[in-house]
Amino acid sequence: MDATYRVAIIGAGPAGLFAARELAEHGVHVTVFNRDIKPGGLVEYGIYPDKHNMKEMLRKQFRIALENPNLHYYGNVLIANNGDFTFEELHNFGFDAIIVAAGAQGTKWLGLPGEELDGVYHAKDVVYGYNSLPPYSQKKFRIGKHCAIIGTGNVMVDVARHLIQKQKVDEVIVVNRRGPAEVNFTKDEMKHIISYLDLDAFENEMRRIQPALQAVNQDPEIGRKRITESQPKADPKIADGKLRFHFLASPSAMFGENGSLTRLEVEENILVDKNGQIGAKGTGVKHTIDVDTVIFAIGDTIDESLGLQTSKNEFVQQREPRFPIDGVSFETPVDGVFIGGWARKASNGLVGYARRDGTHAAQAVLQFLQTRQPNGANAQAIEAKIMGLIKPVILKDDVKRLEAVEAEEAKRRGLDFFKCSTNEEMLQIMGLVETA
Ligand SMILES: Cc1cc2nc3c(=O)[nH]c(=O)nc-3n(C[C@H](O)[C@H](O)[C@H](O)COP(=O)(O)OP(=O)(O)OC[C@H]3O[C@@H](n4cnc5c(N)ncnc54)[C@H](O)[C@@H]3O)c2cc1C
Ligand SMILES: NC(=O)c1ccc[n+]([C@@H]2O[C@H](COP(=O)([O-])OP(=O)(O)OC[C@H]3O[C@@H](n4cnc5c(N)ncnc54)[C@H](OP(=O)(O)O)[C@@H]3O)[C@@H](O)[C@H]2O)c1
Repeated sequence: MDATYRVAIIGAGPAGLFAARELAEHGVHVTVFNRDIKPGGLVEYGIYPDKHNMKEMLRKQFRIALENPNLHYYGNVLIANNGDFTFEELHNFGFDAIIVAAGAQGTKWLGLPGEELDGVYHAKDVVYGYNSLPPYSQKKFRIGKHCAIIGTGNVMVDVARHLIQKQKVDEVIVVNRRGPAEVNFTKDEMKHIISYLDLDAFENEMRRIQPALQAVNQDPEIGRKRITESQPKADPKIADGKLRFHFLASPSAMFGENGSLTRLEVEENILVDKNGQIGAKGTGVKHTIDVDTVIFAIGDTIDESLGLQTSKNEFVQQREPRFPIDGVSFETPVDGVFIGGWARKASNGLVGYARRDGTHAAQAVLQFLQTRQPNGANAQAIEAKIMGLIKPVILKDDVKRLEAVEAEEAKRRGLDFFKCSTNEEMLQIMGLVETA
């Protein structure tokens, strides 16, 4: 009988890797399954590419976690209903516990007419694309000169920055269902794009929405400050595109010609004050805006195909947890199955939040393990099943080899960083498929 506790973690983003580190440092043997070849999740494939120093600092911490001999990494392995292993199969491997730290991989569809048109995208796919995550890195996005982004969070800022600076679009129209005082982005992020703000258009828009602000007794200066407060620290302009805001409007349909988007229809809203909370209410008045591309940056949902019970876009959580941390439940109704990071609360918070949440999920698991003996799962049998997959499975040393070659390539090209953008390239470098 094996006297070691064995825990499986699904996902090697910050939540999964910091959970793994916490467990491994407590002597638990951890097996991390990751959909992507490389570890890192949205740190590798979400955070804006120009934030090179931040990404590199986090990669260093991930490498330290992966160095722990108690931590086993299996990349390129999907746990899902149609994956390499179903969740049930993984459960039957006999791990003492499982942490689901797979992030928010589902798409928040609004069910609007025209969502299928070429030119209509969700931010996650675009972001994965420009961060070189296969297969999104190989997808052709139809980015025209006139683009709309729905939503006003920090993801909107990243996408607008990419469209204006890298894609050199003429204009980005940010469509916000509420007003300027209710935007979600932070000053520190907005400074990257504020120099593109079309000031005349902004003042016209502020004049247009003034009656709606007055109706809820909102001083327009609050919203004006939220939008423009990053101006003193604005990044210098490196492109000509304009940034415009369209407040108090919700998308209602997309129209196109020959399968390609040409117009976004929006419904005008008024603001309503619900006990101090400012909400949006449709007026029924609709009009269209000529655009080539619409990108929804409205947050994501959990992945329903993972195989865990879901309700209202969340994995079902045990409301009365046996092992709460700071009063929070990391437990699902399935004994020994825990959740952490964006898998527990989709599209919520920064890397620091995901790190803390993953660590807390691991601490909940440590408490749970104290209530039972190791169930004696056979490590060799588990490894044989994983390595028996009819596809390349990526181990820690493979990742190291890949990173070394990418670092060399970056040096050769005089870049801060170089990243392969197809699985074939990565597998060839790691020597896991034959070179063509
Ligand atoms: C566009 C964007 C930019 C951001 N920029 C910043 C920033 O600048 N600064 C900051 O602090 N935060 C930023 N964030 C937030 C930060 O990225 C998240 O807080 C954090 O990455 C969430 O961590 P996670 O581990 O829960 O999920 P993720 O990072 O999404 O990791 C999930 C992991 O699970 C794996 N996985 C998924 N499904 C499966 C499956 N079925 N089987 C096996 N493996 C699976 C994935 O391959 C991935 O490796 C940004 C987020 C986005 C979307
Ligand atoms: N650089 C960074 O630090 C960085 C970069 C990217 C992401 N992040 C973090 O990642 C997390 C997710 O960011 P996010 O931008 O995706 O989410 P977010 O901050 O929650 O913003 C989502 C936006 O979408 C709007 N929205 C949601 N549902 C909508 C609907 N049905 N119709 C119209 N609009 C809708 C929201 O409007 P309402 O407010 O009206 O709901 C909001 O403006 C955040 O914690 C963010 O800070 C950080």
